[in-house]
Amino acid sequence: MPLYPFIITTPKTAAWLCLLAFLLGLAPTLCAIEKNTQLAMELMRDECLRCHKKEKKKGGLLLTSRQAALDGGDTAPAVVPGKAADSFLLEGLEADADPHMPPKKQLSKKEIQMLTLWINQGAAWDAKTLAKIKAPPAPNAKDLAVLPSSYRPVLTMALSPDAKTLATGQGGDVVLFDFLQADAKQKTKIRLQSKSVLPAHKDAVQSLVWSPDGQLLASGAHREIRIWKSGQDKALFTLNDKLNGRITFLAITHDNKTLLAADSTPSVNADLHIIDLASSKILRTIKDAHSDTIFSISLSPDKKHFATVSADKLIKIWDLSTWKSVATLEGHTGFVLACTYSPGGDRLATGGDDEVIKVWDIKSKKQLQTFGAKLAGPITGLRWISDPEKIKKKAAEKNKAKAAKINTDKIFAISQDGRPRTYGDLVLHDGAQRSTGAREKAYAAQKESLATLAIATSKDGKAPFPFLFAGSDSGSLFIWDAVGKLVFQQHPDIQVANSTAGKK
Ligand code: HEC
Repeated sequence: MPLYPFIITTPKTAAWLCLLAFLLGLAPTLCAIEKNTQLAMELMRDECLRCHKKEKKKGGLLLTSRQAALDGGDTAPAVVPGKAADSFLLEGLEADADPHMPPKKQLSKKEIQMLTLWINQGAAWDAKTLAKIKAPPAPNAKDLAVLPSSYRPVLTMALSPDAKTLATGQGGDVVLFDFLQADAKQKTKIRLQSKSVLPAHKDAVQSLVWSPDGQLLASGAHREIRIWKSGQDKALFTLNDKLNGRITFLAITHDNKTLLAADSTPSVNADLHIIDLASSKILRTIKDAHSDTIFSISLSPDKKHFATVSADKLIKIWDLSTWKSVATLEGHTGFVLACTYSPGGDRLATGGDDEVIKVWDIKSKKQLQTFGAKLAGPITGLRWISDPEKIKKKAAEKNKAKAAKINTDKIFAISQDGRPRTYGDLVLHDGAQRSTGAREKAYAAQKESLATLAIATSKDGKAPFPFLFAGSDSGSLFIWDAVGKLVFQQHPDIQVANSTAGKK
């Protein structure tokens, strides 16, 4: 035992020794060390690294290299090779440790013994294993064999640019609806009429987007992206190689040419794929764009940037021509689930698990406002438009100074409490106080957790727009009118009856 701790510090040495040992008949011991080193690296990669790496560095501790582990964090060297008893890294793992590592999980006795052994054997390092992306769980054939018809959450929806067709993900299907408005005499009601069902994916549809010209619809699910031509129910193409996880968000650039796809593996990382729609080829992949799931992408109206928000609590702004990250905004205390640029593109609103909406100034990267309803639950969707009522008012106001003061911001927010809210009259330089900084209006509530939204605006600002569409975790669809009245709802049992469920 005393000899090898100081020899085996790289996997290469270990591998050579393993071979040598095999020849000398010592194989069981030395090869076991190599194996144990690999196990230690896998454990640290899966359980520790996300909080102890360059972007996070909790407690001042990096576990990205052997030297960093030896150096330790704010308190003490984390690893003393050959001396488990002196290694601070092991202290936090015990059930009664404070702080406890990892903070919300208890490692098993076996895992702790394995790490103890690893340190006593010299704490060899295996950077390759450490860097290897955790293999996503192999798609379980049973899971993928047609989702149960009862599981049809509406996790995503997208309204065509002409506001006539609503695409929704319902389980593994993309269901298309005609959005029918009330006729002049109010005889027919506002409603969604099921038009067609595209049996799109084997797994739940996670993301949908229309191209700005309304010609193409893209859908994303587990390791799969499909592109559909409007009006056809066979996919133009399917992309399923080079994807690692769930396609959690899709966006198409203003010129209709490029698809951005967020490819997320929870608590591991998220890559961004840049896909050319004409050739259906991945032009570029931004590896590790975030260190956890990307929940939303918003393209800036000036066509120069886009924003991504993630479970890693960060907001990143990217340049659309160089594909480089140009800013990282930090301030949310939980997953950031939603983002939307202001119509002018000068500001970005974000919201998430911490139940607040933050407004950021793009130029200065500063937080302008924080607001939100108490106990509304995580903010799952945001959309920012210019309020048609206020635009009208502004245009009608003859006094120039007064007109200038009319604020046209209108932010729609949906959350898990089932009550959509709008925020207007955004106050500038209000500081980061909650529930100030904007005027809140609550819409009629229903009891389901809302997961996705779409807004129908009219180009001429005509009443009764804007309409708010939302889909719920339990598979329902809702429409609210401009004054916040719930004007349409459809629940999943009705949906299954008139869809083609079972036809496949
Ligand atoms: C969810 C985030 C998270 C994960 C996962 C996590 N840690 Fe930590 N770690 C922290 C935080 C936060 C601190 C600082 C705690 C404090 O000082 O109160 C810390 C501190 C430490 C320290 C003390 C550093 C010092 O010198 O003060 C050690 C050692 C440590 N962690 C080891 C581990 C190990 C080993 C794992 C995996 C088994 C792990 N951590 C997983 C968040 C995490």
